[in-house]
Amino acid sequence: MHHILSSFILYCFLTFSVNIRPAISAVNSINSAYDSSPFKHMYEFDGSGGSSLMGSETVPESKDIVYLPEFNLSARLYRPIDAAANQKLPLLFYIHGGAFITGSPFDETYHNFLNILVSEANVVAVSIQYRLIDVCPLPCAYNDSWAALKWVASHLNADGPEDWLNQHADFQRVFVSGDSAGANIAHQMAIKLATEEILEGFSVAGMILCHPFFWGSELLHGETQDWSDNMVELWEQMSPTSSGIDDPWLNPAKDPNLARVGFLRLQVFVSENDLFQLRERGWYYAQKLRESGWSGYQEVIDFQGENHVFHLNNLNSRNSTILRNRIVTYINQEWIDASVRMKPSRDWSNSPLYDMISMIGRRVLRAD
Ligand SMILES: *[C@@H]1O[C@H](CO)[C@@H](O)[C@H](O)[C@H]1NC(C)=O
Ligand SMILES: *[C@@H]1O[C@H](CO)[C@@H](O)[C@H](O)[C@H]1NC(C)=O
Ligand SMILES: *[C@@H]1O[C@H](CO)[C@@H](O)[C@H](O)[C@H]1NC(C)=O
Repeated sequence: MHHILSSFILYCFLTFSVNIRPAISAVNSINSAYDSSPFKHMYEFDGSGGSSLMGSETVPESKDIVYLPEFNLSARLYRPIDAAANQKLPLLFYIHGGAFITGSPFDETYHNFLNILVSEANVVAVSIQYRLIDVCPLPCAYNDSWAALKWVASHLNADGPEDWLNQHADFQRVFVSGDSAGANIAHQMAIKLATEEILEGFSVAGMILCHPFFWGSELLHGETQDWSDNMVELWEQMSPTSSGIDDPWLNPAKDPNLARVGFLRLQVFVSENDLFQLRERGWYYAQKLRESGWSGYQEVIDFQGENHVFHLNNLNSRNSTILRNRIVTYINQEWIDASVRMKPSRDWSNSPLYDMISMIGRRVLRAD
């Protein structure tokens, strides 16, 4: 199984490197020393952008803790360096991407991203590890992440095992976020919050999905049959026990519990030139959520000319900075009333940022 998987991924990888190499290198000047590890090119920093924070005095404190000893799984915790004792801060629960195949909270890529985001957003963060599919296919990543979320929730009464969370986590302001496969997992956390055991007193204020990894048998605008065939095969390797390409794990539109997702607000980022053709899936997710009857506030932010997880590849680019600013604003926004359909407290249409972001808000999906 491992061999088949590696060959397939290598095949995808080679196909991609040919097709998307010019785009990627033009955008991010990623050094072209590809090795055989899948997806590595997406996560490699260029020389100029990857050096994490400017002004090292704001680099947050971080430390690793084991949250699931059974599988030796850890999370990396972050808090702002200047957090006062017992100062309550929003809590960011972060789930890394990497197609369920690769990635870790301990990678330089994620560590640098979390450092800068924690510093800018002034949050306490938990960036989790989960088992990748070479160790255990889906739903293991979901179950592990759920265990991590429950571990976080065990700090609700400020008497959990981890002092940083006891002191700083504001459970009225919990945000769950992930990129790519991590965003797929984030959605599953929202489903589990609605359908599995109730975590008394625990709720998610907002969901932040970057380039979420979803798919389905029905092709959307910009999705090709060739790539969809790859996705079918890839998904079989990721999730041999699922019901296929329209399994709710991959296609939330097919989930009868969609309207019950356990969060109040949604923020989705997509990119026009997403090499996995995931742009439309982010829009589709938001649309299907609205159609399901879920009535929270949502925004979709679509970056022209950008690629999959561009914001991780070059932290200092203009668009990466804009993306983080949107997250920071979203997390720290004063929301008028969490129980009704919410409006942003600020009208973005007058913002200079507005012109630089191609589309914000709602649109009807186009059929090919
Ligand atoms: C547990 O995982 C850590 C990395 O997260 C590793 O350094 C350590 O060797 C592992 N321990 C065991 C017993 O496998
Ligand atoms: C994952 O969690 C589900 C629901 O709690 C459970 O039924 C299933 O057995 C778990 N799977 C694994 C592989 O742990
Ligand atoms: C950044 O975003 C703007 C507006 O969406 C776009 O025109 C531009 O091409 C993007 N930058 C890059 C480097 O792709």
